[in-house]
This record gives sequence, C-alpha cells and structure tokens, in this order.
Amino acid sequence: MIKVSPSILAADPLNMERDVQRMVDAGCDLLHVDIMDAHFVPNLSYGPALAEALHRRFTIPLDVHLMMDNPESYIDTFAKAGAWGITIHAEIPGDVPAMLAHIRELGLNVGLSIKPGTPIEAIRDLLSMVDMVLIMTVEPGFGGQKFQSAMLEKIRTLRAWGYAGLIEADGGVSLANLPDLKAAGLDVAVMGTAMYKSENPARDMEIIHTM
Ligand code: DX5
Ligand code: ZN
Repeated sequence: MIKVSPSILAADPLNMERDVQRMVDAGCDLLHVDIMDAHFVPNLSYGPALAEALHRRFTIPLDVHLMMDNPESYIDTFAKAGAWGITIHAEIPGDVPAMLAHIRELGLNVGLSIKPGTPIEAIRDLLSMVDMVLIMTVEPGFGGQKFQSAMLEKIRTLRAWGYAGLIEADGGVSLANLPDLKAAGLDVAVMGTAMYKSENPARDMEIIHTM
C-alpha cells in the first residue's frame, strides 16, 4: 500500500488548520512538513513552531523534511516539536552519518534525501543507517513543479540493490505518475498541489491506498 504524506507547503497559510484537517479527514497517513532555510534552497518556509502546533492539534505523524545546510542545529528542536521522522539531505556540508545516527538515537524515523542532480550511488554506503530514502522528483524549493520521470530509475536501482527500507518521492507526484512510482518500488507519496487542490482528496487517497 502506498502511503500519502500531503505537503503543507500547498496549504493556505491563513487556513492551515482547515486545510490540514481536510487531509486528515480524507485519510492521509503522514503530514509532510517542508522546512526551507533560504541557503540550501532559494526559498523560506516554516519553522519548528508550526511543527509543534501541528503536533499539538493532530495525531498524524509529522514527516519533517529539512532542506537546510545545517540541520544538525535543528534536529533536537524538531524532535522536541514532535516529529515522527526527520529527513536530511545528502548534499549538505557537515557530517551526514553523524546526523543520521543522532536522528536514530532520538528514536525517530531516519530519512535521507537526494536532489535530482545527485546520483543514487552517492548514498549507497549510508543505506544501512536509514529507514527512508526521499527521492526528490523536482528541484527542491517550490511546490507545483513538473515531475521528473528520470528519477524513477533511482527507485528501481535502490530496489535492485536489495534496499528494503521505505522509499518516498517528493515533487510533482500525482495520480498520473503514481502507477509508475508504485511499479518502481515506492512506499510513500509526498503530495502538495495534487492533494490540496484536489476536489475529492478522500477519493484520491482511496485510489492510492489500493494501488
Ligand atoms: C519542494 C517540496 C515539494 C513539495 C511538493 O521543495 O519539497 O516538492 O512541497 O509539492 P508538489 O506536490 O506541489 O510538487
Ligand atoms: Zn518535501
């Protein structure tokens, strides 16, 4: 079963509670929280206060995606805010294995992400340290971009290597490309625009859950 992690980036910031409630009512499995620092990506989004408020209000696990150059300074903060899992990027400066080990020590789901231009081979040696690989299927920074189908090969390669952990895709994911993602070996679909702009997210999630 494919799980759905709607990205709050596509919610109306003035109606965050209403929009997230709509996703929860529709049956989402996780809530994807995109944190951007204006350095690692050319955009700014939310901070730990929003994650904490979401955690207080909803029981759905928070899937926190740190698009930051220095996530080491924020891993504890997001853990305290109530994250279920924390995903960092392989392209950042600093000691990525130590950060993954720290997320593990905190008892959280350990995630590692790569941008479209980063070959999957770059993270091969780190796979034993993670619970989830997040394949960026657009250049990180903005919602509403076009899905890059060339990224499907990275998912197939992970499965061909025998990687049995979770694989998540983020960026331009929709009902149109989910059959290919599922066939490649996907477990978790991050969906911003496709879910928040859907006329019937409950129907869409039911279709995805039975894929
Ligand atoms: C980009 C973000 C997203 C995102 C998904 O940095 O991580 O990819 O919120 O949004 P959609 O589904 O609209 O591409
Ligand atoms: Zn994301």
